[in-house]
Amino acid sequence: MFDEGYLPSEDTVMKYIVRELSDYRVEHCLGVARVAGELCYLAEVPEALGRMAGLLHDHMREVPDGELLAIARNLGITVGPMEEAHPVLLHAVVGAELLEDKFGIRNPDVTQAVRTHTTGGPDMGLLARIIYIADAVEPTRNYPEARGLRDLAYDDLNAGFRECVKAHLRHLVKRERAFHPDTVACWNQLLSE
Ligand SMILES: [Fe+2]
Ligand SMILES: [Fe+2]
Repeated sequence: MFDEGYLPSEDTVMKYIVRELSDYRVEHCLGVARVAGELCYLAEVPEALGRMAGLLHDHMREVPDGELLAIARNLGITVGPMEEAHPVLLHAVVGAELLEDKFGIRNPDVTQAVRTHTTGGPDMGLLARIIYIADAVEPTRNYPEARGLRDLAYDDLNAGFRECVKAHLRHLVKRERAFHPDTVACWNQLLSE
C-alpha cells in the first residue's frame, strides 16, 4: 500500500534544515519526525515516510512572506484571499511542490502530508493524518491540550486526528480568525466518516 520510493538520507535532510531553519524550529521538526515515526509504527506505515515528512514539513516555513508569494505565483499555485492575507500559509503547499526539485522526493503520500499539515484538507490519507497530528502534538508543543491529544492519537489515530482538527477549529474561533476552505473541507468530510 505504501511505496517508499526514493528518499534522501536523513543526514542530507538534517544538514538542510539546520542550515535553513532556526534552532527552535529544527527542534520542532525533530519532534514531529519522532512522533510521526512512532505513529507510523503503530499504524503499520513505513516509519521512514513519517520521519522524512516530519523532518521536511516546515522546510519553507522561514522564507519571508514576499518571497513565498513570489515562489507560489511562479509555480502556478493558486493564491487565495486567505493566502494573500497570511502568506505564511503557503509554506505548506509551496513546500510540497518543491519536494521533488529540492530533494528528489516524488512520493505522493509525503507530498500530501506536507501540503495539508497546516490547514488540513479533503481526502487526507494515513500519512497526512499522522503528520497533521504530529505537528500539533510533538513534545515542544506546550499548550494545555497537547498531551491529551498525543495520548489519544497513540491510542486511536483517527480519533486523535479528529480531535486535533477540532482543537484547531476552536483555536481559530477563539482568535476570531477565518477558516481556510481546506479546513472546512477537512472537517465536513470527517463528519461523514
Ligand atoms: Fe508548518
Ligand atoms: Fe510544523
